[in-house]
Amino acid sequence: MNRTLTIDTISKVGELVLLKGWVNTRRDHGKIVFIDLRDRTGLVQVVLTPDLAADLHSEDVVYITGTVKARPEKLVNPKLATGTVEVEAAKMELISKAAELPLPIDTSGLEIDEEIRLKYRYLDIRRNRMTNNLRLRSQVTTFIRNHLVKEGFIEVETPILTKTTPEGARDFIVPSRLQKGNFYALPQSPQQYKQMLMVAGLERYFQIARCFRDEDPRADRAYGEFTQLDLEMSFVTQDEILELIETMFTRLIKELFPDKHISRSPWPRIPHFEAKTKYGTDKPDLRQDTNDPDELAFSWTIDFPLFTEQSQDDFYYGSGKAKFAPSHHMFTAPHHEDISLLDTDPMKVRGLQHDLVLNGFEIGGGSIRIHQPEIQDKIFDLIGFTPSQKLQFEHMLRAFTYGVPPHGGIAPGIDRFLMAALGEPSVREVIAFPTSSSGQTAVMDAPSPASPQQLKELGITLADVRLSTLQKRS
Ligand code: AMO
Repeated sequence: MNRTLTIDTISKVGELVLLKGWVNTRRDHGKIVFIDLRDRTGLVQVVLTPDLAADLHSEDVVYITGTVKARPEKLVNPKLATGTVEVEAAKMELISKAAELPLPIDTSGLEIDEEIRLKYRYLDIRRNRMTNNLRLRSQVTTFIRNHLVKEGFIEVETPILTKTTPEGARDFIVPSRLQKGNFYALPQSPQQYKQMLMVAGLERYFQIARCFRDEDPRADRAYGEFTQLDLEMSFVTQDEILELIETMFTRLIKELFPDKHISRSPWPRIPHFEAKTKYGTDKPDLRQDTNDPDELAFSWTIDFPLFTEQSQDDFYYGSGKAKFAPSHHMFTAPHHEDISLLDTDPMKVRGLQHDLVLNGFEIGGGSIRIHQPEIQDKIFDLIGFTPSQKLQFEHMLRAFTYGVPPHGGIAPGIDRFLMAALGEPSVREVIAFPTSSSGQTAVMDAPSPASPQQLKELGITLADVRLSTLQKRS
């Protein structure tokens, strides 16, 4: 007999069905026992005799064979999608018993210590809110893929084991066994690869891309890794990038977030200076009513200064003597009419950068890129790159000597977009297995020590540092 999903019982009144799922709840009523059986489509009420239900507890996995019955009108449960029916069980197979769960799963979960939730994430995801968030996330990436493919984009996977691609955070590095003493860096974004795909002539690239950054976590910033919709286009203006994104997200909200409304359309485009003077921030929350959970206020911040003052934290740039750090990243093009200011007053140069803002969160960033090797070289000088640092990006300058189309792009953060759109308190609420704020991975508890054999193969000897870290953890 084929399996019937709980949601399909409503059209099978009078039929014998085989249901497979979890015992969501059990209610004893003397001569009969009710359980709500849960599968990926929801719940259905099952009626059992006490002897069939004798061993059943919440979260056990069961197969139930029974007949679908229409409920009398006054017993219809309007809160349940299958509330018009129930299944009278003839046979019950207990497939897998569940121990008592270490955390409740019938609440929002936000009241539970996050460490426990992450340790038992596979149970935490059983709660409605988390399942729904992950389902919506999948619908969002599917929508984006379909939309962009129709617009002529090609999805390309770029390497994870790579060379540094600085976006303002520390790199994660991976030791090489074949070339002892050398290291790969995990990409902070696919920035350089996507630009090289433009040199390669693809013209329209996108990727649902994992990015890796070693930076202090915050509610809106995942530690370690997160996901971007990364995209790049050739022969494009800033206007065209903004329009593409605005159209796509407007349609996406309409289709996938029908309860939400976008408060202003077209989205305001606010020059950086105006945002700072008027709102005191470059990511203003433009909602008319911040108590309204269904209001989505998108805006663009544009005309950023190309540089900020370099600070101690900009350790990854230059020799430490330069005054300037890129405000977006070092591949962002200056405004055409400001190019001469690069030589005279760099802090006055505006960059062709655009940030996408939603309800006070920066949910995306991008720019028109530099495509002239000599301007790129000048930027490297201004941010104080030493000759050896320049050498690390030699491949970009070389690629740009073989016919490079003017290009630009953007990367909206998938996690941060979902967090802001759903009004979740942290990006971790929309990530299946996030890393904790102290850097431990969910469930698997990495990082963990490498074996002496692994270290030997990599040619690595550990300093005492590890011992003290281990002592701290235990
Ligand atoms: P940027 O560094 O601005 O740009 O990142 C773009 C978007 O990625 C998201 N984001 C994060 N989300 C969750 N956790 C994090 N730690 C995190 N860091 C960033 C944000 C942010 O707006 N290569 C450029 C894009 C480009 O120029 O095209 C880049 O990565 O939503």
